[in-house]
Amino acid sequence: MTVSAMIGLGTGEVLMGKYLGEVIFLKMPSGKHLDQIIPQVEGFFHAASNTISYVVKDPSSNACAVIDSVLDLDYASGTIGYTHADAILDYIEQHQLAVQWLIETHVHADHLSAAPYIQQERGGQIGIAQQIVEVQEEFGKMFNAGTEFQRDGSQFDVLFKDGSQYMIGELLAYVIHTPGHTPACMTHVIGDAAFVGDTLFMPDGGTARADFPGGDAGQLYRSIQKILSLPDETRIFVCHDYSPGGREVAWQTSVAEERAKNIHIGHGASEAEFVAMRTKRDATLAMPTLIMPSIQVNMRAGHMPASEPGGGVYLKVPISGLKSKKSS
Ligand SMILES: [Fe+2]
Repeated sequence: MTVSAMIGLGTGEVLMGKYLGEVIFLKMPSGKHLDQIIPQVEGFFHAASNTISYVVKDPSSNACAVIDSVLDLDYASGTIGYTHADAILDYIEQHQLAVQWLIETHVHADHLSAAPYIQQERGGQIGIAQQIVEVQEEFGKMFNAGTEFQRDGSQFDVLFKDGSQYMIGELLAYVIHTPGHTPACMTHVIGDAAFVGDTLFMPDGGTARADFPGGDAGQLYRSIQKILSLPDETRIFVCHDYSPGGREVAWQTSVAEERAKNIHIGHGASEAEFVAMRTKRDATLAMPTLIMPSIQVNMRAGHMPASEPGGGVYLKVPISGLKSKKSS
């Protein structure tokens, strides 16, 4: 089944729009099926957080999207760095790309987003799932953020809902709501490529944890089934790789490979088997080192909290705000 058939579109017909705005029907200029369009994908590995950021380029124009960009943070000294984000900007400059989108697959808990920095330099709209409001509600309370912290997603330019579609130049992208790791996780399908955020890792890495606030292992299982129902040859790009077994870092696989070989969900694992495995494993995991600063910044679309009276910007640590199952 082609992607275009799956989402109920005729050949050559796509739907563009954004959740907060008008929905407009367009004709695909190429008349190709959506999964026959092969965007150029460049990955940028951030070693400190094991994150892969992506630049996704429309093959027929210079338009691109940047997915899950990362700011460097020396937490001990409270120092922000731009080395990783600047490498992305250099690539964009070298290839004379026009940034149309800055996509966050979810509110990351292990690194700060560089989306506002890249937006300031090169433009583009910052997009995330509309379920960001649930994440903002939860963490707004936890960090006692006060009324100046709006919990309506308005810090982002665009809020996607399940099935929302958008264009990167002449390239179609659409989103699949894939919650379970967090409530606001989205998979972005762009041409023949799926950017799965923290749902699936490489086949030998398994799947993402489901024990953060709002996480749910059963929901994650069902979300992963949506990804695995994409065409076999769909390229899958993961958000993290931890080099299991000491192998080289890797970030690209396929639906067929994941379905056959994923150590957590391949070989037709049932939901009950998956939930049991995931729950047991999550109980052994400590909270990510940078979860406190990451959440506070990323729930604000990558912006720092407002400066306090007298100047200075501060990030909080709520004592006992997050229980690590490992240490409890
Ligand atoms: Fe994550």
